[in-house]
Amino acid sequence: MKTLLRIDASARKQGSHSRALADHFQHRWLEAHPGGKILTRDLAENPVPHLENATISAFLTNASSGHAPVPGAVLSDELIAELKSAEQVLISSPLYNFNLPSTLKAYLDHVVRFGRTFGANESGYFGMLAGKSVCVVTARGGSAADGLDGLDFQGPSLKAVFEFLGFNRVDWIALTGTSNDDGQLETRAAQARSALDALFDPQPAQPSADNIEWRGLFSLQDRDAINALRAAQVRAILAGDAQSYARHCTDDVLLMLQGRDVVSGRAQFLECETQLFQTTKFEVMRQIPLRVERQDDLAVESGRQELATATGSAQTESFKARRKYTHVLRKTAAGWRFAVLMSNNSL
Ligand SMILES: Cc1cc2nc3c(=O)[nH]c(=O)nc-3n(C[C@H](O)[C@H](O)[C@H](O)COP(=O)(O)O)c2cc1C
Repeated sequence: MKTLLRIDASARKQGSHSRALADHFQHRWLEAHPGGKILTRDLAENPVPHLENATISAFLTNASSGHAPVPGAVLSDELIAELKSAEQVLISSPLYNFNLPSTLKAYLDHVVRFGRTFGANESGYFGMLAGKSVCVVTARGGSAADGLDGLDFQGPSLKAVFEFLGFNRVDWIALTGTSNDDGQLETRAAQARSALDALFDPQPAQPSADNIEWRGLFSLQDRDAINALRAAQVRAILAGDAQSYARHCTDDVLLMLQGRDVVSGRAQFLECETQLFQTTKFEVMRQIPLRVERQDDLAVESGRQELATATGSAQTESFKARRKYTHVLRKTAAGWRFAVLMSNNSL
């Protein structure tokens, strides 16, 4: 049986826009998973306490050391067990003073825990909660028109936390301008609900990954992770989400597109993709992977791509509608990431 863990963070029980969006998601999720189990955690009703010294000490102490249990650490164990039991997490959260509510931060401080939800090895940190998805529905009083658009640190912060924990998918639906008296709030809310609906609609058919020729030693987890990485790239490109795209790349990523300068490093990549998505909205992005060949912690994937923009097939010089791609993937502590992205129009 599938399990949804719903976490509500708005201090408001009545009239909360983020909770209303979460109701909509929950309804759609139950339709998609009849008989599914729903766990709820209302952080306004039952706030998680702030971390205490004794709790942190207990985190750092071996459980079998014979010390009396510390309530904060016991609560952390319960919250982590609950989180691990759910395949899908739903968070409803308002924007408070440019960031996430402190109740939600206190919750996260109890579940982001070394040795339980993330680990480390010689290559760095890795998340231990792979195979899960989270959908964050958020409401904020302001909108881009207020000129406060840059002052929203909740999105980057929450996305970073869940990707750090190894979640395979982070969806983000925001309702803006809940304080704006412009008569358009219901229209914006309907758009947010449609965006939620789209999460449950069958995805535009992506070619099956079953026909890929895998050469070299790939575990099932490697294959799943590489297929998930490719799917995350498609989602980021379709959503125009440069931040998410950049997070799926290594620090030293190289982007080589025919007829364009080489882009080197994650910062330059982010800048380049941000500029691209400001001017180009991709409506279709299909990847047809043909072969993935592994050498140690590197894998070279080659295949075909099909792209179309809002104004039709991507026929600009840089983005031909159909082209070949070769990507080099590197297995890092955080999982498989894009190290080199190359494509050319010679299809
Ligand atoms: C304490 C507090 C701080 C807020 N800070 C911001 C803010 O920084 N930016 C913003 O756009 N809206 C801000 N708002 C407005 C809320 O984001 C907005 O009312 C939102 O709809 C609240 O979510 P809810 O409807 O789910 O309760 C703030 C509201 C409160 C109560």
